[in-house]
Amino acid sequence: MFNIFEVSANIVYMTDSEPKDADELMGKIVSLCKRRGFVFQGSEIYGGLAGTYDWGHFGVALKNNIKQNWWKRFVDSRKDMYGLDTAILMNGKVWEAAGHVANFADSLDGKKFNTMLKIQVGAKKEEVAISYLRPETAQGMFVNFKNIVDAFHPKLPFGMAQVGKAFRNEIAPRDFLFRQREFEQMEIEYFVKKGDWEKYFEYWRGEILEWTEEIGINMGKVYELEVSDADRAHYSKRTMDFEFDYPFGRKELFGLAYRTDFDLKNHQLDYTDEESAEKIIPHVIEPTFGVDRAVLALLLSTYFEDEKNGETRAYLKFKPNIAPVICAVSPLLKNKSELVEYANMKVFVPLKAEFGRVIWDDNGNIGKRYRRQDEIGTPFCIVVDFDTLTDDTVTVRDRDTGEQERIKVKNLKNYIKEKIQ
Ligand code: GAP
Repeated sequence: MFNIFEVSANIVYMTDSEPKDADELMGKIVSLCKRRGFVFQGSEIYGGLAGTYDWGHFGVALKNNIKQNWWKRFVDSRKDMYGLDTAILMNGKVWEAAGHVANFADSLDGKKFNTMLKIQVGAKKEEVAISYLRPETAQGMFVNFKNIVDAFHPKLPFGMAQVGKAFRNEIAPRDFLFRQREFEQMEIEYFVKKGDWEKYFEYWRGEILEWTEEIGINMGKVYELEVSDADRAHYSKRTMDFEFDYPFGRKELFGLAYRTDFDLKNHQLDYTDEESAEKIIPHVIEPTFGVDRAVLALLLSTYFEDEKNGETRAYLKFKPNIAPVICAVSPLLKNKSELVEYANMKVFVPLKAEFGRVIWDDNGNIGKRYRRQDEIGTPFCIVVDFDTLTDDTVTVRDRDTGEQERIKVKNLKNYIKEKIQ
């Protein structure tokens, strides 16, 4: 068993001129994503639109699991975090005040090119307002600072969290999900007293690394980079990038920024300490995570190939709580009604009701079904055969080892529950 990524890594980074293996791996991931219904090129039948992708059934499930896991850890399990879901369309003045109209730019032919996507809001000529699709979810949170303080009376430190789409008119969208024009972010704005910023910067640095590991990204490929003064965004006094060794190079996965009081000051927002009645502008530590880059890093971390019965098989070694499908249920033969009925009524329906992420797979022979489920990353395949009809046991086949166990049907739910914890 080998991870093709591990094998190719040395070759890729020994010289810059050896991209073959890297291209091959990315090609395999991209075609698996299409073949198995994870990710498709955006507007494909019209020749595509660069930097956009459409998500299929298993891709949506994977993204949802990542987002839910993130929300559970950073919002639901804490008492100092307030969730938001703010409008993507915002008043153009937000982007003026936030400094994005002047500074959110990349260099194009030696000139500054603003990468915000410009929009016109309103129908009648005199009412049309110019704005931009948000290039970060962060500003939706900053402009709601007063609403959150008035509604919940939080004490410092506290945070706001949001998951949502962001848009950038990237000059060169590339590398599959890595650099898109429409993508998704999971962001936290954590408000602290000025003197505490270093303490909380360190704290969030640890949280980012822990969560990255928790969802199953290969930590051997994750590196921290202190971003230089010249490369930091206009709002940041200190930025740490969490980079990943993608086949196309070591590049940003997630980020952590000390945004100071830059944003609240620009929006003219402040905070009154309820005990001391002192008015202050809190400082902000911002951990930010790209959903799409998390998916890409996860695909690259979990893609393995090995040999089974003289055949090469590819599989995605997702953790069961992140996998788009927890288990597939199959009758050994799809033309034997007693097997189909048992598999459906006594196995599929109850497991589906309990876990949701359960699929029915009776297409092709068992070997083909296993190969398909391996590529989807399904940890368990459950097969109902003729023995099942007499002893109420089923075969549970493990994705990673290929080993099979007989399990009592009445114990299946608990068996799976234990595995997905
Ligand atoms: N609010 C801070 C902010 O937006 P950023 O580093 O520009 O910071 C945050 O973006 C995260 O969003 C990145 O770490 C990355 O994961 C993701 N991201 C940024 N641009 C992207 C793009 N063009 N395509 C996909 N993901 C992107």
